[in-house]
Amino acid sequence: MTVDETDFAVQLETALETQNKLVALIGTYLKPIGTGKVRYLFDLPQHPDLMAVFVSDNWSARDFVFGFVIPEKGKYLNIATIAMKRYLRNKEIETDLVAYARYIDEYLPPGLRGNRELWNRMTIVRKCEMIPVEVVLRNNLFGSAWKDYNNPKLGRVVCGQLLSEGLPLFAELSPPFQSPTTKAKTGHDLAMTKQAVDEEYPGLLSEGVYILESLNEILEEDSLGRCIDIKFELGRNPVTGIYVLCDEISPDSSRLCRLSDYLALEKGEVPEFLDKEFGRAWADALGIDKLDPASETDKELVRSWRPDEQFVQEFMRRYAVAFWILSRGHTLNEYRNSMMAMS
Ligand SMILES: Nc1ncnc2c1ncn2[C@@H]1O[C@H](COP(=O)(O)OP(=O)(O)OP(=O)(O)O)[C@@H](O)[C@H]1O
Ligand SMILES: [Mg+2]
Repeated sequence: MTVDETDFAVQLETALETQNKLVALIGTYLKPIGTGKVRYLFDLPQHPDLMAVFVSDNWSARDFVFGFVIPEKGKYLNIATIAMKRYLRNKEIETDLVAYARYIDEYLPPGLRGNRELWNRMTIVRKCEMIPVEVVLRNNLFGSAWKDYNNPKLGRVVCGQLLSEGLPLFAELSPPFQSPTTKAKTGHDLAMTKQAVDEEYPGLLSEGVYILESLNEILEEDSLGRCIDIKFELGRNPVTGIYVLCDEISPDSSRLCRLSDYLALEKGEVPEFLDKEFGRAWADALGIDKLDPASETDKELVRSWRPDEQFVQEFMRRYAVAFWILSRGHTLNEYRNSMMAMS
């Protein structure tokens, strides 16, 4: 390794240690109630109906969690989600967001107040009864849906939905194509049919479609970008039973591209995807797609992988553009200063 490579490797390890210390500090004051691949959830003793969600710099792909962090990624995810939940609220969509930025202090014990890292990475949300379905929606025909569409054995029925004849690659699907999956605790999420989800959770998918359409309406007003596909997690408001938009809206859970790239889709050009695809391709080149996320040996192997600096920079460059689209034309700093009073 060159000196620069060694420096970068040390920087990455330090970022991970710093994150671990912060999570441990939160844990000395608040009881952990769950950990996802990226988020750490904590109980708030004075507010049993709420919880604190800390967004880490961890990243995952193909159902594996990597052993290194992408420094600052969690801030972009957290603040993009705050921005989008605020915009969607104006469209009468109920979200779980209760407090963010310095206003989280009102819910935290004194030892955690005034901590800028937490203002960047933590929100207070309403605890909801989570629906164990990933609401995956696609605006355009490509990827595995395109493959299935062209498989004569399936008769243009893709995930239980009959699509019309003669659609080109990237055809816009209206309403968006709904390909829900289970939310597996370990291993891959499994496909569910739209019919099965409609039966078990009436109105869930149509609520997801409404949220995606509202999101794209917002993005259209700015002419900056377009959401090609997205995954929502919805819960129920424990009091009213109404579906609530929970979890995240971020480049980790959506595929965005610039509007100019989107318009070029019609000419068959492939856009620059501002999401995890770039990272997934890096992991695929290392063979992740041939590994089993339920195998301890494979998990250990993936945890040992380390990236170079160029990879991390390119990853974050894409996430910063995605942030600019979701925040409606702001850099992270601008959004924090002007919309979150965090100068
Ligand atoms: N308002 C909420 N009430 C209750 N649980 C929530 C709420 N918002 C999010 N959650 C849960 O918190 C966890 C967040 O975890 P995280 O996003 O890190 O990983 P994940 O959702 O398990 O995986 P991935 O996002 O990669 O699919 C999830 O289990 C999610 O269902
Ligand atoms: Mg999640």
